[in-house]
Amino acid sequence: MRRNCAAAKITPVTRTIRFNAFDMNCVAHQSPGLWRHPDDRSAEYKDLAYWADLARLLERGRFDGLFIADVLGTYDIYGANDEAAIRQAAQIPVNDPLLLVSAMALVTEHLGFGITTGTGFEHPYPFARRVSTLDHLTKGRVGWNVVTGYLPAAARNMGQTDQPAHDARYDHADEYLEVLYKLWEGSWEDDAVIRDRERGVFTDPDKVHHIGHQGQHFSVPGIHLSEPSPQRTPVIFQAGSSPRGVRFAAENAEAIFTAAPTKAILRETVDTIRRELELAGRDPYSAKIFNLSTVITAATEEQARAKHAEYLSYGDPEGALVFMSGWMGVDLSRYGRDEPIADVDSNAILSAVKAFQSADPDGGEWAVDDIATWAEIGGMGPLIVGSGTRVADVLQEWVDETDVDGFNLAYAVTPGSFADFIDHVVPVLTERGAYQEEYAPGSLRNKLFGRGDRLPDEHRGASYRVGGPRSTIIERPSTVPSSSASVASQPTSGR
Ligand SMILES: Cc1cc2nc3c(=O)[nH]c(=O)nc-3n(C[C@H](O)[C@H](O)[C@H](O)COP(=O)(O)O)c2cc1C
Repeated sequence: MRRNCAAAKITPVTRTIRFNAFDMNCVAHQSPGLWRHPDDRSAEYKDLAYWADLARLLERGRFDGLFIADVLGTYDIYGANDEAAIRQAAQIPVNDPLLLVSAMALVTEHLGFGITTGTGFEHPYPFARRVSTLDHLTKGRVGWNVVTGYLPAAARNMGQTDQPAHDARYDHADEYLEVLYKLWEGSWEDDAVIRDRERGVFTDPDKVHHIGHQGQHFSVPGIHLSEPSPQRTPVIFQAGSSPRGVRFAAENAEAIFTAAPTKAILRETVDTIRRELELAGRDPYSAKIFNLSTVITAATEEQARAKHAEYLSYGDPEGALVFMSGWMGVDLSRYGRDEPIADVDSNAILSAVKAFQSADPDGGEWAVDDIATWAEIGGMGPLIVGSGTRVADVLQEWVDETDVDGFNLAYAVTPGSFADFIDHVVPVLTERGAYQEEYAPGSLRNKLFGRGDRLPDEHRGASYRVGGPRSTIIERPSTVPSSSASVASQPTSGR
């Protein structure tokens, strides 16, 4: 099994490839052990100046966005405890992703911010306001990665005995999104805020609606707390590739993250996603698909290979198995290193389990040691090592052969891996017409799709708008109990 993806014969394509940087508010995100490398600055994650520098760098490289992953639990599947994860800083300690965004927005003009939060642990009402706040403060540059969680430790620490079953988590997320769409799209009309100084009316109450949500999991009768932000609904990102996950993505996502290790798996996944988008009544290209990948590059092939070897000397295969055990929901410490994972039950990331039960890039079987080597730098996606030209060839080949739209780039060291990509790969792709020469104007949604700031009419969320087919707004209720209503004589809106 080879780790470094070599380029085959190239058919140059001129499709513009999209790029996000993939990061997390922690140390060495998906490259365990690399925090020890002298060039790695990830231990500065507690410092706003560090994040501001990273945002400026990514905007210089015309990245579409910085995507910030998150978990609310520890990786305690490996060895059935959290010792190895804590020792190796496997995404622990980990800080909140949302709080980073305002500072980075202040020092950039175009970079998008994809923040991750789970649907299982926080009520949608306060979350809706936090996201609207960020969308205001960034002038419409926020995306939200909707995750349903995979770490049982997160559920346990939020008062549950275990996380709900895999598909039930998506059912719950369906209602979570319904509440959010109602708040973001259906509560405040665009012209509700009038700031009429003469009449002393800041907001017209007739244009602010109670959403009247009463569901299986949530009761949210009232209005959204924020006035409409540039995008209203943030750009919806999603990352599940199981059958239920893809169905959820097809109904909601505008950007979909995959972590396919091979082109064969990615091709199959992309085909399935595009088919499901059509079945959901959407254009098959209405969601951009980004595959997780890691690039190690330098001025020459030799220098890139030397850099790779040097990075590997800091890597930590056991740390990789800590991650893989968490993602797969399978304790890999219980296997021999030369054993395949075979048939196992999982309540975590089903697509991760399936990927490592499929053929490896050489058509062979993945043994546990292969998985550790594969995931050591950058996690589950492919690792591409080479000069700028070679890496550009490979990326274009993946796009050409799999129909993927772009890549979520994980780092070996940060910000070095991103800086190297910007210095060596971006000029080659730009020269070939495969990289955006300048940012499109406006919000993140407009930059990605060029169709304005708001959700397109055919998107599920748009159907909750005032006057839309799923609009649920109710007449403004009196907050006074009916027995004393006549005494207080609270007016209703009369609509
Ligand atoms: C590239 C990628 C990034 C992900 N990032 C996160 C994350 O930051 N936090 C999280 O809780 N889950 C994350 N996930 C997990 C997914 O959101 C989803 O819960 C998981 O893939 C299970 O879905 P599936 O079984 O449908 O594949 C990620 C998955 C992928 C493939």
